[in-house]
Amino acid sequence: MAAMIVLGIETSCDETAAAIVSDAREIRADVVLSQLDDHTPYGGVVPEIAARAHLEHLDGLIRRALDESGLGLGDIDAVAATGGPGLIGGVIVGVMTAKAIAAARKLPFVAVNHLEGHALTARLTNDVPFPYLLLLVSGGHCQLLVVEGVGKYSRFGTTIDDAVGEAFDKTAKLLGLGYPGGPLVEKAAARATDPGRFDLPRPMVGRPGCDFSFSGLKTAVRRHVEELSTPLSPDDQADLAAAFQRTVAEVLADRCARAMRRFKELHPQGGALVVAGGVASNKTLRARLQTLADKEGMPFVAPPLRLCTDNAAMIAWAGIERLRLGQTDPLNFAPRPRWPLDPSAKPAIGKAGVGSGVKA
Ligand code: KG4
Ligand code: ZN
Repeated sequence: MAAMIVLGIETSCDETAAAIVSDAREIRADVVLSQLDDHTPYGGVVPEIAARAHLEHLDGLIRRALDESGLGLGDIDAVAATGGPGLIGGVIVGVMTAKAIAAARKLPFVAVNHLEGHALTARLTNDVPFPYLLLLVSGGHCQLLVVEGVGKYSRFGTTIDDAVGEAFDKTAKLLGLGYPGGPLVEKAAARATDPGRFDLPRPMVGRPGCDFSFSGLKTAVRRHVEELSTPLSPDDQADLAAAFQRTVAEVLADRCARAMRRFKELHPQGGALVVAGGVASNKTLRARLQTLADKEGMPFVAPPLRLCTDNAAMIAWAGIERLRLGQTDPLNFAPRPRWPLDPSAKPAIGKAGVGSGVKA
């Protein structure tokens, strides 16, 4: 049987992306256009600028993805687009484009939950079997979930205040590193000359449950910054960035260790620890989680860096997983700015686990 080929579209935040993926787990094309330069002057993502940029670039990116794959629209079997959660203007651009192609070519349309795109990436890259334990760490989310199957998620824990990517972004701002925070904090930390110079609190470490908290950590960074002379010297920036990054990795590892024990009780037959989302591209975090997984005797899977941050290959793949189960969406699908993976999970205290609402 010929492979099923799916066009994926991602427009939920500040990356415009198109990809072509086959159900043989083959990425035929994967193009991502970052809007970084459009948003940098504002120190964060501006929703209307993002939506307009998606509108301007998406059709050209789809053309590029087709060209790179050597395929035409006639070779595509279905179209999948991020249907939420995310910035609504951008999601509408992607969904409408996908619907138009699907209607014109009489193809099935799949509205993909962006978080499910991140959650299933490890099956595209590593063919990881269900069930697995997922640490989902992005700009708007920080959650531990059991991925039992496509569309079947049970949440162990979430953040009670900031998402972890948000904490990276705010810390970068406090340190005067700029935007986007995650990669800049990682880069600064790498040149630390005295990485042990600052000791930061580790919110939630040792506490029962699998919830997270990052706002105290951010406040502690602010306090250190206020005590130092500003603007910070490159050494201060680097040493504080290293302390922040190390502490985040420790906090995440502590929460994961608890979740792993709970996972093993529920699934004694085993399963991997998988990390996904933009923050999963952080090398210190990946190394820390690898050490933890080795200690706990669990396989550890982290997708390649470019498939951790937002991309459309993960959306095409999640579409394939749904199509395999016969699941498609009608052309009157309405974009969903909020779309939890586990709707039965109770909101955590604080910000109810919705992150900043800026990033998905
Ligand atoms: O998944 P993603 O690309 O977009 C969302 O869906 O949110 O995640 C973006 C987040 C941002 O907060 C960014 O600062 C963070 O991921 N991030 C990183 C790194 N690369 C991106 N955080 C830490 N280290 C990195 N290398
Ligand atoms: Zn994302």
